[in-house]
Amino acid sequence: MPDYILCRTDQLVEGRGRPARAGERYLAVFLVDGEVHVLDNQCLHAASPIDGGPVVDGAVRCPWHGWSYDLRTGELLTGFGPRPGLATYPCRLEDGVVQVTIDDPVGN
Ligand code: FES
Repeated sequence: MPDYILCRTDQLVEGRGRPARAGERYLAVFLVDGEVHVLDNQCLHAASPIDGGPVVDGAVRCPWHGWSYDLRTGELLTGFGPRPGLATYPCRLEDGVVQVTIDDPVGN
């Protein structure tokens, strides 16, 4: 499984996301309360990137129409409860960079 460096840790801003790529896969990297979260960067509604959305209570809100995703689980948060949402990826912080191992870097 290939490893990918997504960004330097000093490029992350608390409470914000940033786009990254792992092979052909587009990802979003968030730093929230000192924890780094990595998930697919494509909203399930109409495919907007989510990296620029506001973070509220541990969830990112899609900047286009407001769908919300739990940053820890990727679940889509709805008025009817959580639903399957975006893929998340465990990451490592080593040598000042954020790294992930992705077994399917083909694309999203
Ligand atoms: S594209 Fe994300 S809520 Fe519509």
